[in-house]
Amino acid sequence: MDPIRNPYAPGAGQRPPELAGRDEQLAAFDVVLERVARGRPERSLVLTGLRGVGKTVLLNALRSAAVRKGWGTGKLEARPDQSLRRPLSSALHQAVRELGHPEQGETEHVLGVIRSFAQREAGTDAKLRDKWSPGIAAPVVRGRADSGDVEIDLVELLTDVGGLAADVGKGVAVFIDEMQDLGADDVSALCAACHELSQNGLPVIVVGAGLPHLPAVLSASKSYSERLFSYQRIDRLSREAADRALVAPAEEEEATFTADALAAMYDATRGYPYFIQAYGRSVWDLAPRTPITVDDIAVAGPEAEAELAVGFFGSRYERATPAERDYLRAMADAAVAASDDGVDDPVGSVATADVAAVLGKKPQSLSPARDSLLKKGLIYSGERGRIAFTVPHFGRYLRTQA
Ligand SMILES: Nc1ncnc2c1ncn2[C@@H]1O[C@H](COP(=O)(O)OP(=O)(O)OP(=O)(O)O)[C@@H](O)[C@H]1O
Ligand SMILES: [Mg+2]
Repeated sequence: MDPIRNPYAPGAGQRPPELAGRDEQLAAFDVVLERVARGRPERSLVLTGLRGVGKTVLLNALRSAAVRKGWGTGKLEARPDQSLRRPLSSALHQAVRELGHPEQGETEHVLGVIRSFAQREAGTDAKLRDKWSPGIAAPVVRGRADSGDVEIDLVELLTDVGGLAADVGKGVAVFIDEMQDLGADDVSALCAACHELSQNGLPVIVVGAGLPHLPAVLSASKSYSERLFSYQRIDRLSREAADRALVAPAEEEEATFTADALAAMYDATRGYPYFIQAYGRSVWDLAPRTPITVDDIAVAGPEAEAELAVGFFGSRYERATPAERDYLRAMADAAVAASDDGVDDPVGSVATADVAAVLGKKPQSLSPARDSLLKKGLIYSGERGRIAFTVPHFGRYLRTQA
């Protein structure tokens, strides 16, 4: 069918033509926004899930919901080895602009505090970095949010930003993607600041998204984090939602799927959003006419898999060094060996000892490879002594590569 009218959108953070199966999270977030704006206690939100399940697009949708309510919003993507100060300053700068507080003087003051927070970057090259500013023209407010202790500074910063939002009867929401990559100091400061702000009824919330072990990262930092955040597991779509993700965009283009075709699509994609978009895209291009049939899916399968191999699996596999690749392949083999039916469970974890056994090495000698794969976000550890792929079906992909 006409590729120009192809509605599907495989790609990291690509807005899907239909955001299926997330009504519950969207509705819950509306309640959070209303409560926070009224000064009611409410927990910040954290979305967790595997790669490609739609955390980033949901985070963006939640941000749009906040903007529609007149909130100030800002977003950042955490990176390993990067301090929170600069990206958070830029995000809050944006949020303050969106708030549109009527009094210039008040706004200028808060912008000056943000600038002061941003410029207080610790480290030996602090002199050079001092010059950096998040594009704020307002004069720096000295003595506020610039002690150098990120916990103290964050509380001061967010208190001032929250006060500005409270003045106009709105709130501020900060969206943090890849939150598991925040440094330990920043995580702990962020938890402390959220704790303090919610106790004072200030309308500031943090909405995070990250890999499945993010709750463990947060609770390792502050034991009270479980009460601070409401965790939402973002998972693959139900059959019904997966059908809607395919059918609704097709209908916009006057096309449809047969019932068998939808069943075959779910078989192939298992409801993983990235796979749905990749299969949808290939099937659309290769199907001669509407309705799309089972045969069309059989024809499109290899192309969809090829696209996934490059765009979804390959792009991540390439980040691994040869030693790390050996480790990944050993994980895939260990997963198959440990399963009852000799087929790996796409989200199952394996014991690190089993991986070592597959490679015939001592577990300790493999820690560097494992640690760096953890840091690259290719694997995660949900429980002690066990690891799993963050990428669904990665084991299957690795074994077809071999
Ligand atoms: N609810 C949904 N319905 C249909 N398609 C979706 C949905 N959520 C996400 N997608 C599609 O899935 C793909 C992956 O989405 P996204 O990048 O948000 O995943 P992610 O969880 O952030 O992945 P990563 O961990 O790699 O960052 C995109 O192509 C997006 O359009
Ligand atoms: Mg993402």
